[in-house]
Amino acid sequence: MLKGVILAGGLGTRLHPLTKITNKHLLPIYDKPMICYPIEALVNAGVKDVLLVTGGNSAGDFLRLLGHGRHLGLERLDYTYQEGEGGIADALALAKHHAEGKRLVVVLGDNILELSIKKSVENFRKQESGAKILVKEVHDPERFGVAEIQGDKVLSIEEKPTQPKSNYAVTGLYMYDSTVFDIIDGLSPSERGELEITDVNNHYINRGTMTWEKLDGWWTDAGTFDSLRRATNLVAEGGANLV
Ligand code: DAU
Repeated sequence: MLKGVILAGGLGTRLHPLTKITNKHLLPIYDKPMICYPIEALVNAGVKDVLLVTGGNSAGDFLRLLGHGRHLGLERLDYTYQEGEGGIADALALAKHHAEGKRLVVVLGDNILELSIKKSVENFRKQESGAKILVKEVHDPERFGVAEIQGDKVLSIEEKPTQPKSNYAVTGLYMYDSTVFDIIDGLSPSERGELEITDVNNHYINRGTMTWEKLDGWWTDAGTFDSLRRATNLVAEGGANLV
């Protein structure tokens, strides 16, 4: 069985002043709060036991909005709170107890996608161990983690490189075996003071247990004014066809 984790911590400072009064993941993307989209992505992929890691402002409003989650198709929804903004891997570390030694599908709370990830999740279920990333070709790779890919291998990932080695952005959809928590335990903060998910992924690459797939359909993050508007337009025009 796979368990789900949605990471919706951080302070969302790139969206000030909007995020001074609420949590980034509660901002609207067309007709729903942002957090509803990653939940739908997991439910659609058959991952229905989910931990939501939040942080920053208005954490209580997630409960008001999502409650026990059953009306959204979840079987179980747990919540926890990340103090500060220690990075994506720091937020993921809070999911150790939730994981109970099982494998995880992790989604960043500001990632919006058009189509189902069911097939990729099925493929990960069959993978003996290790991790999987989903990549997407973009025209502005320097904004993301960028994967250097050769055939079926990921050679490396660089976080926001000034000279990207490819156009493949690493999307905020990650699948991990239970060794992810040992990897996080061994990490040190990056120059920006965060435990980086890219460092976690490079550990799996160095072990030779990272697989990758291309994500179908459109994909965007929503953490800047431009990407927030893009997400809203994409959803309004084409829908996020998950349910
Ligand atoms: O969207 C995909 C990109 O997300 C990847 O390509 C990058 O490799 C990855 O580092 C990340 O980049 P960003 O700089 O865009 O991440 P951001 O700080 O915007 O955080 C994305 C989400 O992660 C955010 O909506 C909530 C969660 N998060 C982030 C931080 C820093 C947390 O839960 N806690 C945190 O401390």
